[in-house]
Amino acid sequence: MDSNPAIVAGSGNLAEHLGKAKAAIDAQLAEKGAVLFRGFDVPDPFAFDAAVAGYGEPGFTYEESLSNAVRVNVTERVFTANEAPPSTTIFLHHEMAQTPLYPSKLFFYCEVAPDEGGATPLCRSDHLFARLEDADPQIASAFETRGVRYSNVMPGENDAASGQGRSWRSTLGVDTREEAEARLANLGYEWEWRGDDSLRARTPVLPAVRELGDGRKSFFNQLIAAFCGWSDIRNDPARTVTFGDGEPITHEHMAGAISLSEELTYDHAWQAGDVVLVDNFTVMHGRKPFSGKRRVLASLIG
Ligand code: FE2
Repeated sequence: MDSNPAIVAGSGNLAEHLGKAKAAIDAQLAEKGAVLFRGFDVPDPFAFDAAVAGYGEPGFTYEESLSNAVRVNVTERVFTANEAPPSTTIFLHHEMAQTPLYPSKLFFYCEVAPDEGGATPLCRSDHLFARLEDADPQIASAFETRGVRYSNVMPGENDAASGQGRSWRSTLGVDTREEAEARLANLGYEWEWRGDDSLRARTPVLPAVRELGDGRKSFFNQLIAAFCGWSDIRNDPARTVTFGDGEPITHEHMAGAISLSEELTYDHAWQAGDVVLVDNFTVMHGRKPFSGKRRVLASLIG
């Protein structure tokens, strides 16, 4: 069991290749969870946008998402992966699995490779969950049957110093507190306003495990990222995640999954022009700290 992507080495126009070879690419994606396209001619974000369009599936836009990362759109379908500073580690997660709205697949594109560090870790979470069921059936079953709730504090204005600094106005796509409350109520969230115009929001009970339809299950959640990484001046990681019944999720509950994730992770070291397609239901991703310039862009499939 490893988390290495399938590798498609080629040249020329990636948009054309993705359109022509889609069935074969999707078969590789189903088998390996991620596919790396290397050597194609993808010089800039516009070529990346065209490649995603060539793949031909409907997009999932950042504006309509409840992502808590601060991002900047480059084209309508392409945005910066996360504006958090280079020294910040983004821990493993399934994209937006801490919300009821998430993409099925993600494309990443490396425009500028980092001088040092900056790999994108990829981890098969179906493998992880199978191993967790073997190693600790009780905790695996607790995640599966009790579900999980996430709580996070969103600032009034974007805070790019944080990995989860997206403002409540941007996250919820609203201008006023009344509109924010209406959107949260509609999504089944609980909330609490704080004195500094920040907002604590708590999700309804969300699944922590996803059935993949063929007997496999994945550890489809943001528990590792929330537990290890959701700390900034507003957020205390010890308060961010509970089981669905409200019991706090502690280090003891998480230790097995975290150590399995370390064992199963493949670190993708970027070369400029690389494009990676990730199945969001089976593979978690993150970002290692880096130095120097690094520009990795993302695009989401609905
Ligand atoms: Fe992500």
